[in-house]
Order: sequence, then C-alpha cells, then structure tokens
Amino acid sequence: MTWAVNEPAGEKADAGIVMGNADSSPPNVARIYDYYLGGTNNYPQDREAARKVLGTVPDVPLAALENREFLRRAIRYLTEEAGIRQFLDIGPGLPTQGNVHQLARQHNADARVVYVDNDPAVIGRAQSLLHGLDGVTIVKGDLRQPERIIANPQLREPIDFSHPVALCMSLVLHFLTNAEDPYSVVTLLREVLCPGSYS
Ligand SMILES: C[S@@+](CC[C@H](N)C(=O)[O-])C[C@H]1O[C@@H](n2cnc3c(N)ncnc32)[C@H](O)[C@@H]1O
Repeated sequence: MTWAVNEPAGEKADAGIVMGNADSSPPNVARIYDYYLGGTNNYPQDREAARKVLGTVPDVPLAALENREFLRRAIRYLTEEAGIRQFLDIGPGLPTQGNVHQLARQHNADARVVYVDNDPAVIGRAQSLLHGLDGVTIVKGDLRQPERIIANPQLREPIDFSHPVALCMSLVLHFLTNAEDPYSVVTLLREVLCPGSYS
C-alpha cells in the first residue's frame, strides 16, 4: 500500500507565522512530521527530506497517523476514566489538529496543559496559536536537561505536582541517543509525579 501526503498549495507555511526561513533553514523534524500528517506547515526542504525517508520506509505516514490515534485514545482515557486534569507534554510537535489540549478539553474544559519543546519554530507557532487560551502554554525545554524542565517556574505555575499529572512523551524519546541516557531522563521526570499520575 502507498500513502499520499498533501502537497501544500504555497511554499509558505500558513498564517504567515514564523516557522524558520523557507529558503535556507534545514529540514525540521516537526515540519516533516506535519507533512506526514497531511498538514501544510512545511517547506520544500522538509518535503524533500520527508520523501527521502519515504523511499526507505514507505509506511511512515501510516505510523504518524496511528500515533495520533493512539494519542487520542490515551488522552480520552486519562481525562474521562482516570480523571486527570493536568498534562505535561514534552515534544508536542507543531500544534496542528488533535493536540493534547484539544483532546483533553473535549472531555474536561478545565484541563491544564503545558507543552515543552526544544525547537524555536515549534515554540513560536504554538505561542501564537495558544495565545489567550487560559491554562494552556508552551515553554522552551530540552529533554536532555530534564532537571531544568522540572525547575522551570513557567511550568510550575500552571502544573501543581502535588496533584496527579499525565506526563506525555509521544514520538520524542527516539531523538535521544543512548549516550544521552533516555532511561535516566524518564526516571528523573517520573520522580516528580505524585501517586495517581501517569506517564
Ligand atoms: C515527531 S514530533 C512528535 C509530536 C507529538 N508528540 C505526537 O506524538 O504526535 C517530535 C517533537 O519532539 C521535539 N523534540 C525533539 N527532540 C527534543 C528534545 N531533546 N527536547 C524537547 N523536544 C524535542 C521536536 O521539536 C518535535 O516537536
């Protein structure tokens, strides 16, 4: 089976929001992922890189879509059945349709969500889209420095770690090398969660 992905009509990401330079910036992970999901927040260099991957692993778009479906099921369970009201999502990607705050708020309009990403393009786009949305924010942080993520006051203000939190790290841990010790990163992040939390 082959998978067709949308070709954006223009060469510029939508809404004129800063996404990096279409002419000179290198391919970007979040924009490539957006392309696989059928989005339009990507540039020619992203699509070219994405197509190279497709040449070797043609099912990547299917995996991306399945991952989004998994996220939808997981957030529904966490909000509806586990009663989670706080979400910490590290490596959210571009905030296109079906992100954690949209999913969680379908079930609980008061759900609080903090996104953490290390990509300035993602941060800029997300800040613009999330502007004016109470209880949803994005902060800059790198999974390779988990102690700095946890200590960030911008994260500590909306998230109360004395109450259960869902820590989401979907399709992001594979960006860490073995030398960056993803196991210790996850352990450290989990240590801050109180009983009743999920990760
Ligand atoms: C493939 S997207 C995942 C999107 C989303 N979590 C999902 O499951 O649909 C990967 C995201 O992780 C971010 N990322 C990659 N390495 C990271 C790191 N070391 N720290 C924080 N974010 C990182 C990228 O910028 C990108 O936004």
